[in-house]
Amino acid sequence: MLFSLFLLSATAQELSLIPQPAKVEVKEGAFLLKKGTVLYVDAAVKNIAEQFAATIHATTGVKLKILNYNSFDKRFNSRKHAIYLIVVPDMSDEEYALDVRDNFIFIEATKPAGFFYALQTLKQLMPRNVMAGVPDNDIKEWSIPAVEICDSPRFAWRGFMLDEGRHFYGKEEIKKIIDVMAAYKMNRFHWHLTEDQGWRIEIKKYPKLTEIGAWRDSKVCAWGDVKPDGIRYGGFYTREDIKEVVEYAKERFIEIVPEVDIPGHSQAAVASYPEFLACDPENKHEVWLWQGVSGDVINVANPQAVQFAKDVIDELTEMFPFGYIHLGGDECPTHKWERNTECQALLKEIGSTNYRDLQIHFYKQLKEHIAQKPVEQQRKLIFWNEVLHGNTTSLGDDITIMAWIGADGAAKDAAQRGMNTILSPQIPYYINRKQSDLPTEPHSQGYGTETVERVYDYKPMNNVPTELQDKYMGVQANFWTEWVVEPEIVQYLMLPRLAAVAEAGWTRADKRDYKSFLNRLQGEQIYYRMRGVDYGKHVFK
Ligand code: ACM
Repeated sequence: MLFSLFLLSATAQELSLIPQPAKVEVKEGAFLLKKGTVLYVDAAVKNIAEQFAATIHATTGVKLKILNYNSFDKRFNSRKHAIYLIVVPDMSDEEYALDVRDNFIFIEATKPAGFFYALQTLKQLMPRNVMAGVPDNDIKEWSIPAVEICDSPRFAWRGFMLDEGRHFYGKEEIKKIIDVMAAYKMNRFHWHLTEDQGWRIEIKKYPKLTEIGAWRDSKVCAWGDVKPDGIRYGGFYTREDIKEVVEYAKERFIEIVPEVDIPGHSQAAVASYPEFLACDPENKHEVWLWQGVSGDVINVANPQAVQFAKDVIDELTEMFPFGYIHLGGDECPTHKWERNTECQALLKEIGSTNYRDLQIHFYKQLKEHIAQKPVEQQRKLIFWNEVLHGNTTSLGDDITIMAWIGADGAAKDAAQRGMNTILSPQIPYYINRKQSDLPTEPHSQGYGTETVERVYDYKPMNNVPTELQDKYMGVQANFWTEWVVEPEIVQYLMLPRLAAVAEAGWTRADKRDYKSFLNRLQGEQIYYRMRGVDYGKHVFK
């Protein structure tokens, strides 16, 4: 009888944490946040503590007092009603321990990211207005349930990609997405910034990319019966915008991976500089108004096109401090190369008959260009998995393959070639598709329906031989936007499925359970509303 009562109360007490931590032990009692509660912090993590204190003040009105923590004795002797952020040796980069009791909160980590995630967990233990960053004047008492948590992520790469090539949403939308990602401890924002239908990033050396390439004569990406509407439409990020977003993300421990998709999906660039990017400069080139895969690809046999790509990489390196750049590489038709005498000659010269190898040769030159740079400007390259269709020998194995089509097989192929890989399976991690069959679903991108459960149930790195597992960097959800004009619909389709992918990235396989996830998810709609983002409603009771 007592035992079953205990079980009942344990279930009732399941904490609404997403992603589920590695180890959670719910305790008796709660810590009451009060005016003047002291936050003792190691000097090394003072800025994180200040950021946390500012959020707490803004959302609860409680002003925490930050004091330096520099004596190990205090921890055991003072027993003040206080929060402690204590640097300990030997935890992994994102690992933390969080111990909440009636009279103290101890947070231990080695690296700043560990403290950040501990504080994100702490915020998730509070009413959701705290994570949303907004006040709730109805709440008079701010208590945090007693709990002991030891936590670290399963994967180092927990990503989300947004395609802004098709539609430009602007930095305030990106900041909302970054906030939601950070709430779920995701750490890589993959920014798909160029497409056939638009080039969205200012490149000083090539101003026409944004004077011409960022604009098209149709708001809709036409397809089938939908014709171009003739409305001038577009936009782009200046260098200042990029800096602002990179810093915003960095404060939330999210690194931004810029993607410039070349040499395919490049019609907007070709339209900007047809004289050296087009395979047929004599013809008219315009920013594409249609959906699908354009055949108007960059002429990789033109040395000026190669120089263009090097220059773009140089400017990306200046703007994005993270150690990775994504060069795309998906869906690159070769028929224009096949008809172009320079391309024919180059293929012969490199000793191949497979036109895909021209693409590899192009990348090889870009990789060599990066290799000549000083250490702090080194960047690793990421490609979509079609690159594996060429002879990758000349590219080496120190590249990363983002696996989307036939993802499990492609990832394994990459790992067997000695490359790192990231799992972003089209089905079910393209969270631009419908998430239910309800008639209320908005206009989504792509056929098919991926319910939250289906997304949740994908098992990353399933049946992968042990010796290949260290090549698997992690998981990523992708969002393509052809049909998705409104940012609210991006949000609607993205949420709450992004939370399901986040949990796959963070939580070990044996701790994942859909029923539990669904339970923990229920209150998230309050968070979404307070943060001002829309979300799919059908899984909420
Ligand atoms: C892709 O979905 N074309 C990467």
